[in-house]
Amino acid sequence: MNLVTTVAELRAVLREPQRAGRTIGLVPTMGAFHEGHLSLMRRARAECDVVVVSLFVNPSQFNDAADLIGYPRDAERDAARASDIGVHYLFAPAVEEVYPPGFATTVSVGGLTDTLEGRHRGRAHFDGVTTVVTKLFNMVGPDVAYFGQKDAQQALVIRRLVRDLDMPVRIEVCPTIREPDGLALSSRNAHLSPDDRARAAALHRALDAVQRAVAAGERDPAAARLPALAALRAAQIEPEYLELVSTRTLVPVDRIDGEILAVVAARVGATRLIDNRLIQPSPNPDREVATVATAAPTTA
Ligand code: PAF
Repeated sequence: MNLVTTVAELRAVLREPQRAGRTIGLVPTMGAFHEGHLSLMRRARAECDVVVVSLFVNPSQFNDAADLIGYPRDAERDAARASDIGVHYLFAPAVEEVYPPGFATTVSVGGLTDTLEGRHRGRAHFDGVTTVVTKLFNMVGPDVAYFGQKDAQQALVIRRLVRDLDMPVRIEVCPTIREPDGLALSSRNAHLSPDDRARAAALHRALDAVQRAVAAGERDPAAARLPALAALRAAQIEPEYLELVSTRTLVPVDRIDGEILAVVAARVGATRLIDNRLIQPSPNPDREVATVATAAPTTA
């Protein structure tokens, strides 16, 4: 695996495979790799001729300076893990390479970003994500880019970005990888104290509770949320949000008539965690790993 730190070098190494018509896969990351990241890299490796992993802790998407400073970083370990998987290029630019002095452009997706994470983290969060992802797509020129279902809203926003700006890249959204007790893998889990780590599995239990209520025939979203709220409160967790939303618009549903997305965000101790579950009124095992972002985009 080769470590690349500048856009010029990246373009130079990708010129030949691109000219030869090789498929380029990009896995955008902020590092601190866990099995979730590695599963995206393996998928890219299985589907593409050349795999580029970007490692850039993007300052513009952090709404909280302390969160940015404390974000877990372990570049050496990350490089070793990516190399073991057979990633071809690890692109790890410095902040000034991505945002040179005088940088003044923001790429912003409307509608879908106003709710959930956008509402709780502020407008700048998704603007930071869509701006850096646009830049990464322009730098790498990937045929396919891989994102995790754990960040379901991000995946939907990026699909909309790509569609609205006619970006020639296919977006693949891959299933959430979980700990044995159901906790979704996240770089932020490293910050959980042992006690908070045990409590954090309640987010998964809350989503289970919504799913069970819907499977038992509950069609009223308010009623389906009740056992989920109870599961969180049993672990002394007060959610920032726990919503049952449309998989296309992310607007809360009035009634559970078709596929919905149950989304939750909560602070567990000092660590903010998110999770989600795609839920269908009539369970279909074939859709177990389906992603919100497979839904056809519509105007939010
Ligand atoms: O999901 C992430 O890790 C980040 O939001 C991304 C897509 C790499 C952009 O910085």
